[in-house]
Amino acid sequence: MRNLLSMEHLTNKEVIGILLRAEEFEKGEQPSLNRSYNVANLFFEPSTRTSTSFEMAERKVGCTVIPFSASFSSALKGETMYDTVKTLEMIGLDAVVIRAVEDAYFNELLEGINIAVINAGDGVGQHPSQSLLDLYTIYKEFGKFEGLNVTIVGDITHSRVAKSNAIALKNLGVNVRFVCPQEWAGDFEAYHSWDGLLEDSDVVMLLRIQHERHAVNENFSKESYHEEFGLTFEREARMKKGAIIMHPAPVNRDVEIASGLVECERSRIFEQVRNGVFVRMAILETILKGRE
Ligand code: CP
Repeated sequence: MRNLLSMEHLTNKEVIGILLRAEEFEKGEQPSLNRSYNVANLFFEPSTRTSTSFEMAERKVGCTVIPFSASFSSALKGETMYDTVKTLEMIGLDAVVIRAVEDAYFNELLEGINIAVINAGDGVGQHPSQSLLDLYTIYKEFGKFEGLNVTIVGDITHSRVAKSNAIALKNLGVNVRFVCPQEWAGDFEAYHSWDGLLEDSDVVMLLRIQHERHAVNENFSKESYHEEFGLTFEREARMKKGAIIMHPAPVNRDVEIASGLVECERSRIFEQVRNGVFVRMAILETILKGRE
């Protein structure tokens, strides 16, 4: 694995390898890179979890984190993504973690860029490190994937998490169901109500409504959405014993999930954030070691 761009590119063996390495890191095992690598985090879209978690993981595996501020970079003067990354390569960086507005921005880096590229989210495309930490959270809970029922609810068409997880979970033998309003299904075959899906779900994964990617004058009522598609206390009570609640966050409380459920017993929402550091350590180590 020389880069991490899309869950489409990962075999199940590579996925499981990262999860097992994350588990070792969680148990206290030390990283095994032979030298310190220079890494920069290029975030052209807002982020709290992914950017901070990657920086924490980079420091924990012994990387030197080179500061890069997208809002003060020469991208604002029209420099292309290719020229930005090539410039950082020439300065001596070994890897870049990138979040960008454009879908599949990494395609323009495939030829001519020799340093590692880790996709931290591309437009409405992919979010592979989030998918891997979601998989790790599920693996820790159930110790398997085959035969689980995972119900993903929300803004499917704008969600890179839904797209990444759809690929990865199906490859691992999970029965994935999508629930959303008709207009947010995109190319996905989706249900338009929770009917019959709550009671047998092992995982209910909620998604943020990405208003920033919707039409400006969209007619949207938080209350109506919560009533029809949100995880309410009444719906949580119908979930089966041992089933868990996940959300990649940031959470819109009382929209996709009742505020009082965010830290309830079933919720793994903050645990996902914690798991993200171990998973990103595993991603960084796997990619950088693969280049040693
Ligand atoms: N889940 C996720 O990608 O969160 P951030 O946007 O805060 O990085």
